[in-house]
Amino acid sequence: MGKNVFVTGGLGFIGSHTVLDLVVQDYDVTIIDNLDNAFPEAWRRMKELAGDKAHMMKFIKGDLRNFDDLDNIFSATKFDAVIHFAGRKAVGESVQFPMLYYTHNVVGAVNLIEVMRKHNVKNMVFSSSCTVYGNPERVPINEEHPLKALSPYGRTKLIIEDIFRDVAAAEPEWRIILLRYFNPVGAHPSGKIGEHPVGIPNNLMPYVQQVALGQRDALSVFGSDYPTRDGTCVRDYIHVMDLAEGHVAALDKLFASPDIGCTPINLGTGTGSTVLEMVKAFEEASGKKVAYKLVDRRAGDSVAVWAATETAERELGWKTKLDINDMCRDQWKWASLYPKGYET
Ligand code: UD1
Repeated sequence: MGKNVFVTGGLGFIGSHTVLDLVVQDYDVTIIDNLDNAFPEAWRRMKELAGDKAHMMKFIKGDLRNFDDLDNIFSATKFDAVIHFAGRKAVGESVQFPMLYYTHNVVGAVNLIEVMRKHNVKNMVFSSSCTVYGNPERVPINEEHPLKALSPYGRTKLIIEDIFRDVAAAEPEWRIILLRYFNPVGAHPSGKIGEHPVGIPNNLMPYVQQVALGQRDALSVFGSDYPTRDGTCVRDYIHVMDLAEGHVAALDKLFASPDIGCTPINLGTGTGSTVLEMVKAFEEASGKKVAYKLVDRRAGDSVAVWAATETAERELGWKTKLDINDMCRDQWKWASLYPKGYET
C-alpha cells in the first residue's frame, strides 16, 4: 500500500519539486497551499509533469492559520506523515512586518502540530534553514553548531525547531526530521517549474536570471572586499532537485526509524561558491552577459557559509549529485521557456 503524505506549501518552489519526486516514488500526496506565494499555474504544470501519476496528487486551497481547514482535511484522510514547507521566507519583509511571520509561520506550525496530535499522525519532516546557525562561527557548519536567529524570519524557524524539540521530548512516539537547507537554486530539468519570486528578487540567482533575461539592468554584488578568493561572499548553493530527493530520503528514514526523536540534518553540497563564480556559471549556461556592479556590503551578510554533509550521508544515505553548472543550466531552461514564470 502506498503511503499518504500531507504536504504544506506544496505549490511553492521547493514544495512543488518535492511533491513530484514523491509521486515518482509512489507516495500519495495531499497538498495544502494558501497561494500567497504560489500560483495555480504551478499546479497545472505539476499535473502535466506527473503524467499518469497525476491522480496521486491532490491540491486543497487552505491556510494553516485556520485550524478548521486542517481539521477537515485530517478528518477525511488518514496520513502517514507530513512535510511542512508552508511559510513566509523573506528576511527583509520579516523585519518590517514581524507579526506576519509570527502568525503565518509560528501559528501555522502550532495548528499543524495540534491537528497532527488530534489525528494521531506523528511523523514530520520540517523545512528549516541554515539561517538558524546565525553568523557561523566556523565552516563547514555541522548540526552541533550553536543556534542563533538574526531576523524575525530566522527566529520563526528557530522557534518552530524548539517547539518540535519540546514536543518530541514530551511525546517520544513522534519522529521528526528538521532539514536545514543551504541555498536552494535551479529548476526542474523540464524547465516547466521553477522559482517565481514576486516583486524584486531578494536572493541572488533569481536576480541574476532577470538580468540575463534583460528584465533588470545589472546585478548589485554586495561586497567585494571580503576575505575570500575573489572578495565576494561564499554560499553553499544546492540544486532544488537534489533537495527534493533529500526530502524523500528523510521520509523513508522516518518510516524506518521508530526512535529517531527530533533530529536536525543539513542539506547542502558541502562546497561553497562565490557570488562572482555563480554569475560566471550562469553566463556560461545561458550564453548571456550578466552585467553587474560592485557595491557596498549588505548588512547582516555572513562571509562564508557551507554545510557539513556527513550527517545527511550517514543518516539518509543521501548526497547531492548536481553542481552549479547543472543548477544554472536548469534554471536557464526555466527562465528561457517561461521568462514570466507562472504568469501566462
Ligand atoms: C538568504 C537568507 C537566508 C535564507 C537563504 C536561503 C538573507 C539575509 N538570508 O541567505 O535566511 O535561508 O537566503 O534561501 O536574506 N547577493 C548579491 N546581490 C544580490 C543578492 C544577493 O550580491 O542582489 C549576494 C549576497 O550578498 C550573498 C549571496 O549573494 O552573499 C547569496 O544571497 P541570497 O541569495 O540572498 O542568500 P543568503 O544571503 O545566503
